[in-house]
Amino acid sequence: MAIRILVNGASGKMGQLSVQTLSAHSDFDVVGKTGHQDDLAKAIKESRADVVLDFTTADVVLKNAEIILNAGVHPVIGTTGLIKEQIEALQAKAAKLKLGGLIVPNFSLGAVLVMKYAQAMAAYFPDVEIIEMHHPGKLDSPSGTAIYAAQKIAAQRKTKSSVSPNAREIIPGARGASYENIPLHAIRLPGLVAHLKILFGGKGETVTLQHDTIDRQCFMPGVILACQKVIHLNTLLYGLETIL
Ligand SMILES: NC(=O)c1ccc[n+]([C@@H]2O[C@H](COP(=O)([O-])OP(=O)(O)OC[C@H]3O[C@@H](n4cnc5c(N)ncnc54)[C@H](OP(=O)(O)O)[C@@H]3O)[C@@H](O)[C@H]2O)c1
Repeated sequence: MAIRILVNGASGKMGQLSVQTLSAHSDFDVVGKTGHQDDLAKAIKESRADVVLDFTTADVVLKNAEIILNAGVHPVIGTTGLIKEQIEALQAKAAKLKLGGLIVPNFSLGAVLVMKYAQAMAAYFPDVEIIEMHHPGKLDSPSGTAIYAAQKIAAQRKTKSSVSPNAREIIPGARGASYENIPLHAIRLPGLVAHLKILFGGKGETVTLQHDTIDRQCFMPGVILACQKVIHLNTLLYGLETIL
């Protein structure tokens, strides 16, 4: 039987592409398409969805995730901007409800593999900086992917970076944002889609891991996989690698 999917944020760039992709796939039946003007709880009930795929905005994603869990439906959250405490709160709520779901800051397989290699590098190269570059329409910064990369790297780093404690910013913000002493730089320019660079510095060498999203199509295999697997989960997992 086809998995019944409601796409929230269906008229957005990711929402439209997801509706198109899932509608063309025999495993899925797209039973609902909602936007900011709709009552999500009501739409879930009326559509009898099994899964809600959310591609909305950082300011509403927490509320949406709560509504989806309260409706007893599996969430696949592609919207970025959730912070650690919010993710943990949602995981606790899902555990209480014994409901499986996925929060996926990046659906691209290439980006997920870059994270994996970045984690391996971090154990040997504690000096690291992250640059993410996106189209100017992106509302949240730094990107969910950049934050996720920083979290993964921070968890593997055995020593701290060797930047001088006396270093000072002549213009505040010159060194970017900071996640556990990992500088994060966000660039917004026309012509860009979504790009990630992780730069490691060692004695006499540097290593750069780079991922470039050329087309949003790169997210679709991950979206399909997440929507297929989520109905078999009974906890709320974070990251596409948890189901690969
Ligand atoms: N996980 C990944 O791999 C991945 C990849 C790319 C992007 N993203 C993230 O996905 C999100 C969407 O990106 P996008 O490029 O598709 O953005 P977008 O084109 O701006 O679309 C966002 C959509 O959200 C809808 N929306 C706003 N508030 C809403 C609400 N309260 N309830 C329901 N819908 C609401 C808007 O609908 P209306 O038209 O009704 O206003 C709009 O169509 C962003 O957070 C982005 O960072 C994630």
